[in-house]
Amino acid sequence: MLRPFIRFACSGLLVVPLLTRASLAAATPDPCTKIAAQFFVDPADALTCLKSFPFNETLRQNILSVVSRVFDFYTFEDFYLNSPAPYKQSTTDIRAEIRRIESTQYATDYDFNQDLYDFITQMNDGHTRWFPNCYMTFENVLPAPIVILDTGVYIAPNSVELLNQFGDGFSGFLAAKGSDWERLAGAEVIAIGGLPVRQYIDKIAGTVSGNYLNYNNRVNSVVSSYRISNSGFQQRLGDHAIEPFLKQTSLNFSLIPVGSTSGKPENVSVPFVALFGGNGFTDGPSYWANNCAAINTTNGAVITPEGSLQTHPRLARASLVDSAAIDFPDAFLPTLTPTNGSTGTIKSYILPGNKTGVMFVGTFEAEFNQFTVDVEAAVNQFKASGVEKLLIDVTNNLGGQLCSGLFLHRYLAGAAFELAGFQTTSRANPLAQKIVKANVEKGLSGTYYASYNWLFPSGKQMPGYYNYNTPSIPFSVNGRDQPTSQRFLDSCPVPSVQLPSAPPFDLNNVAIIGNGCCASTCAVFTSVMFERHNTKIATFGGFSDKPIEFKGSAGNQVLEWSELDSEIKTAGLKDDPLAPPDLLVNGNMRHNWRTAYSFLDETTPIAYLTEAPQYHFRYTKDTYNNPENVWTFVEEVVLGSG
Ligand SMILES: *[C@@H]1O[C@H](CO)[C@@H](O)[C@H](O)[C@H]1NC(C)=O
Ligand SMILES: *[C@@H]1O[C@H](CO)[C@@H](O)[C@H](O)[C@H]1NC(C)=O
Ligand SMILES: *[C@@H]1O[C@H](CO)[C@@H](O)[C@H](O)[C@H]1NC(C)=O
Ligand SMILES: *[C@@H]1O[C@H](CO)[C@@H](O)[C@H](O)[C@H]1NC(C)=O
Ligand SMILES: *[C@@H]1O[C@H](CO)[C@@H](O)[C@H](O)[C@H]1NC(C)=O
Ligand SMILES: *[C@@H]1O[C@H](CO)[C@@H](O)[C@H](O)[C@H]1NC(C)=O
Repeated sequence: MLRPFIRFACSGLLVVPLLTRASLAAATPDPCTKIAAQFFVDPADALTCLKSFPFNETLRQNILSVVSRVFDFYTFEDFYLNSPAPYKQSTTDIRAEIRRIESTQYATDYDFNQDLYDFITQMNDGHTRWFPNCYMTFENVLPAPIVILDTGVYIAPNSVELLNQFGDGFSGFLAAKGSDWERLAGAEVIAIGGLPVRQYIDKIAGTVSGNYLNYNNRVNSVVSSYRISNSGFQQRLGDHAIEPFLKQTSLNFSLIPVGSTSGKPENVSVPFVALFGGNGFTDGPSYWANNCAAINTTNGAVITPEGSLQTHPRLARASLVDSAAIDFPDAFLPTLTPTNGSTGTIKSYILPGNKTGVMFVGTFEAEFNQFTVDVEAAVNQFKASGVEKLLIDVTNNLGGQLCSGLFLHRYLAGAAFELAGFQTTSRANPLAQKIVKANVEKGLSGTYYASYNWLFPSGKQMPGYYNYNTPSIPFSVNGRDQPTSQRFLDSCPVPSVQLPSAPPFDLNNVAIIGNGCCASTCAVFTSVMFERHNTKIATFGGFSDKPIEFKGSAGNQVLEWSELDSEIKTAGLKDDPLAPPDLLVNGNMRHNWRTAYSFLDETTPIAYLTEAPQYHFRYTKDTYNNPENVWTFVEEVVLGSG
């Protein structure tokens, strides 16, 4: 099921309020009361509730102040003034947009938040997003996800099995709307929302899918595709078929259903169903109190160290927030038996013939030690079975612990390959400089700014209390000065498993598979394999006539708003005039805090280095939801069956 709804299941029974004389006498009914305690909600009713909160100038000032001061730390800020080709579509004058939103008149708080959400989403950096939780309590599902196959665009042929897992409430809602949606599975799509389907996909890739700079990678985010999450194999519905920020109530399609006798397109309107995943409420005021007002984890807190210096560095995270996905129906699961080391988010298999091992690394979010143990267990079993070739599937891997990505590279490259990652910097703006200075003077540990987390570019550990941010290093982009810290590498814990002294597989016999939705730590892992070992990479999907890249968002580390705020508070700088205030609403302004530079060109962030895979394949009806068929295809076509 959709993961966000776990929260709903935990919120317990809702108390139905007794009607009092006063509430009966109320002039206009509260639009939120109508949808209280419902799970499958009519999106028109949900919108009426969400738009019932008036625009509030105090909240605008507060949110924009946080957003603007978080952008002071954003490593890619000045690149956006004129995004380098082929990423021109993302060009944004960030400060001008904030000024525009500051002076626009909005009818409701929803309209203000939508404008801010859209502007930041359209920068196409999944590490840098504004998430107003108040307006993201629903997953608005369209029961017509699409896929791009070798022969055209289709409603996902397995959409009925997939979506019927939502049960009777879902199908009952659609039946009551008179929708015959199940008939549409597998239909060839001609137009959506009044646009020829390709133009429609362009529009969604340009305005809704905000996670990747490269256009064709965003196209893959629009459509439905397989992945592994903490709960196992799943299928994303794609940004076309699920809205985390609820906007629409229905969408018009022109399509040719499977088995159509006329073979002519017909026009069909498909309704959305809004699935509620927020905290329970009974009316507008309780909706606001439970879903919109700041909670005790919205803002940061002073990090209390447990001892002077931590025993190992604070593990850096780089990951994306994706739209929701649904568990794979059993019929689509791989039929192969998983090897050892497959109980977590890595699932490994040996392909028929015993020549090729597959490691599907679904995410890098697993606990670091568990990740290292799982990699070792799978490789040991591969070796014991005589496997000589390795496929690593990173389809829809949206990142996680940076050190896990660097570990996987070192394990495959062998222990002799000591420096596994890229040179990185953070910004040296005046507040960041004060934070690093405070870390040094107060002897702080447990913070992300602590120098203990970094190695010098030589690989030598930085001393515990070292000021790497003053003096700053000049850096200029698009005519603006944006000084940075000194360069440093990530310091990672010593893994609990022994690194092999030599590569366990000839690196010419290793290939990576993905769909370009490979973000953050996944982008770092694939880039380092590509740049250092010329590893073969096969990227699937998108439009076959547009360039695709094997990696998506390729920053190096993300800080969530509460994490940045904790750094400021721990440094004792919350009262500094440059510091952002606490957020008054329940939301998150995350940002890319650290940039990684390409090994091949140490002046260019890997995020802006266009790196195309050696192989770009289309999905077919046999591969779009079937990883096992993808693997056997790549084994034969890329690694050679001999
Ligand atoms: C605007 O929001 C602030 C902060 O939540 C609140 O104190 C104030 O009452 C709101 N103003 C109006 C007019 O509702
Ligand atoms: C279907 O809708 C399109 C506009 O998207 C319109 O041009 C066409 O005439 C409609 N076809 C039918 C059969 O109603
Ligand atoms: C769908 O098409 C119908 C008929 O052309 C039109 O009246 C309606 O506004 C369209 N709906 C949307 C959401 O575009
Ligand atoms: C935040 O509030 C929840 C209850 O709403 C409580 O369980 C939790 O301990 C609190 N956390 C902190 C850090 O205060
Ligand atoms: C592959 O290995 C399995 C288990 O060791 C064995 O049963 C099978 O016969 C092997 N297949 C081939 C083609 O070698
Ligand atoms: C799989 O793991 C078990 C338990 O650790 C171990 O006994 C077994 O030898 C492993 N199998 C292979 C083929 O590595």
